[in-house]
Amino acid sequence: MEEIKGLVVVGSQWGDEGKGKVANYLAKKADVIVRYQGGDNAGHTVKFEGKEYHLRSIPSGIFYEDKINIMGNGMVINPLSLAKEMKELLDAGYTLNNLVISSRATLDMSYDIELDGLKESKLKDKFIGTTKKGIGPSYTDKAERSSLRMCDFLDEDFETIYKNKLEEKNQLIEFYGGNKISYEDTIAFYLEAKKLIAPHVKETVSFIHNLREENKKILFEGAQGTMLDIDFGTFPYVTSSSVNAGGAIPGSGIGLGYVNDCLGIIKAYTTRVGEGPFVTEFFDEKADMIREIAHEYGVNTHRPRRIGWLDLVQLKYSQSVNGFKYGALMLLDVLSSLDEIKVCTNYELDGKVIDYLPVSLKEQYRAKPIYKSFKSFKGVDISKMKTYEELPLEAKEYIKFIEGYLKIKIVIISVGPAKEETIIKEEIF
Ligand code: GDP
Ligand code: IMO
Ligand code: MG
Repeated sequence: MEEIKGLVVVGSQWGDEGKGKVANYLAKKADVIVRYQGGDNAGHTVKFEGKEYHLRSIPSGIFYEDKINIMGNGMVINPLSLAKEMKELLDAGYTLNNLVISSRATLDMSYDIELDGLKESKLKDKFIGTTKKGIGPSYTDKAERSSLRMCDFLDEDFETIYKNKLEEKNQLIEFYGGNKISYEDTIAFYLEAKKLIAPHVKETVSFIHNLREENKKILFEGAQGTMLDIDFGTFPYVTSSSVNAGGAIPGSGIGLGYVNDCLGIIKAYTTRVGEGPFVTEFFDEKADMIREIAHEYGVNTHRPRRIGWLDLVQLKYSQSVNGFKYGALMLLDVLSSLDEIKVCTNYELDGKVIDYLPVSLKEQYRAKPIYKSFKSFKGVDISKMKTYEELPLEAKEYIKFIEGYLKIKIVIISVGPAKEETIIKEEIF
């Protein structure tokens, strides 16, 4: 088997699958960790040595001083929120000498954040439930070829560039009924953030390829989940970037031939934050119990996450568009609080049994889940288990069924939030 030198870690559901934990875990074996899309809408939890960190834009390998962490060109970066995140890590004792930021990354600015909220309020009952971080507006400007980039932030004329852009955007803000943003009130914050950020900015494409030529192992850390992908997700209830593993290529400049595998991160059940269809969602006291046990609240927005059973129809689709042959099954320990575990194997749509995710939103809302039930391993504390063999029979049955349906190998089983609560079934990286 070819040695994996470029591995993409991708969320296979609607985000919050545990990508941060896995990326941080695998980072110890990598030389370079790259984020390739999204912005500070992400919230990646990393827990080790009794401490818990929440990363928004910075890759999860940052805690290893000897690993290079790159924020790729495919990201949208809010300089103020990045500076805040950097300060939190500096205060925690990390040098950040290992942080590199792409000069091509798109800027997510004050007006983008304002417009995100305003546009959502105009959508009334069709609002998406965004994180209100300016993600949609900044990617819109990128596609429209008018956004500012990190190289503009570093430009000696940044003050004028920002002033002009703000003037243009204030017209749009007024159109949406918002209050104009004052240049005088905001510029100082950007100049302050610039002092912290500028030393880390580089042309990252040649940088990545130099590292690759030195035979370095590169881990690509996805944000969000495949069902939030702009092309493949439950459109329009999605984010604005290419979340799927293929997004690592345009989002970092790594060539197709240099990424040789991907690992799908799969939560043992399903969660979703924000609006949109969710076939296996359920609302009873079991959902509340899972939400409390697993603390299913958004890292960034603190919104309660919606809860559903594992959806293999959705996951098969996600497996296909990402092409992952390996999976990491996360939060398996949470299922030990239940008597019964359900898995959706098909949908029923207008009286017909189907095995695919309908494209039309109306059909997605009409689709009913068809479940297979599994006996749980209720009451068994699996969080201290270190090997697959130790796991209860019921847990193994569940894992095998998922592997069989998706035709993948589950190589990592996560049995708790902390780094040490991880079972490695097979080393792939
Ligand atoms: P990400 O966005 O994919 O990085 O995931 P989040 O950090 O937003 O959400 C995952 C949540 O599950 C975090 O609170 C993690 O600490 C937690 N978590 C990760 N793996 C496990 C696990 O195996 N068991 C439990 N109980 N919690 C986990
Ligand atoms: P991580 O990386 C879960 C959701 C929002 C909303 C939709 C669009 O932690 O898995 P946006 O602000 O991106 O325009 O919002 O996408 N969303 C996430 N949900 N985890 C995330 O990131 C998310 N990032 C965005 O809730 O429904
Ligand atoms: Mg998250």
